[in-house]
Amino acid sequence: MQHIPVLYKEVMRYLEPHAAGKYVDGTVGSGGHARGILQSSGPNGMLLGLDIDPCAVNVARRTLEAFGERAILKKLSYVEMDKCVSDMGWYKVDGIILDLGLSSPQLDEPQRGFSFNLEGPLDMRFDTTEEFMADEIVNKWSQNKIAKILYELGEEKQSNRIARALVNERPIETTAQLAQIVSNCKRHSKVGRHLATKTFQALRMAVNKEIDNIINVLPKALEILVPGGRLAIIAFHSLEDRLVKRFFRQESQDCLCPTEQITCVCGHHATITRVNRRPIRPTDREITTNRRSRSARLRVAEKI
Ligand SMILES: C[S@@+](CC[C@H](N)C(=O)[O-])C[C@H]1O[C@@H](n2cnc3c(N)ncnc32)[C@H](O)[C@@H]1O
Repeated sequence: MQHIPVLYKEVMRYLEPHAAGKYVDGTVGSGGHARGILQSSGPNGMLLGLDIDPCAVNVARRTLEAFGERAILKKLSYVEMDKCVSDMGWYKVDGIILDLGLSSPQLDEPQRGFSFNLEGPLDMRFDTTEEFMADEIVNKWSQNKIAKILYELGEEKQSNRIARALVNERPIETTAQLAQIVSNCKRHSKVGRHLATKTFQALRMAVNKEIDNIINVLPKALEILVPGGRLAIIAFHSLEDRLVKRFFRQESQDCLCPTEQITCVCGHHATITRVNRRPIRPTDREITTNRRSRSARLRVAEKI
């Protein structure tokens, strides 16, 4: 059975892929969104699919095999998409999708260390060719430094308490051990949520420098869009979604001077229009069939 990615219909509706169009899927994963883009942009639309996870690129290659040379896949960070597009001689593209976060195959593979429900090593790298892993943070970083990322990236209110417990319990070797230590020291959590959710999120984001990557890719993605081209971004938690929302708001304004400034001195001109002001959420039906979609939010901007 074909895997249907999160907010699939909505991404297709808003990206409006068309024949002869050029598209970038910056987080190609298993190739679900990419396949939809290639199907809708036949017979000659092209897609550049990027992923920093070498396993994901292999899976996407199999998913998109039938499209032949219309699908170009590279193991590369989406932060490099502008350079890659220019190296390929494409210059500009008609649409870009970024489906942030981790994929189901990554979460379900114990050896990748992303899941608090599965026993695995403290890894959490998207890019398995990098050396930096969650193990280094958990077992080597200072208590203060750990508390800071738990608070800032996990929005974990009990960050100090957890950081202290982690440092006291060293060495910590597995995800199961980590999840247990966090659960033991936390007072409470939102009903239905594992007590270690925020800790795992923060560690994953720190290992993969996810916030820096999002901040860096946003202007580059706009830069390579043709006028009328669209950028669609799916975020899975408020921190990422806030960055996208603020960037889209700023880029859709003609002047960024403080309100007390009577005449504009910044000279900023809007580069996009926001296609949707409020984020698009999965339907109840999608959430029932795919629980992991429940926190997804899609924002779409169109280049002026
Ligand atoms: C939610 S999945 C994408 C699923 C995909 N839309 C599909 O249809 O199967 C996110 C993917 O982004 C990849 N990723 C994370 N950070 C990345 C980066 N900086 N550059 C490229 N890919 C990245 C992950 O390895 C993962 O495969």
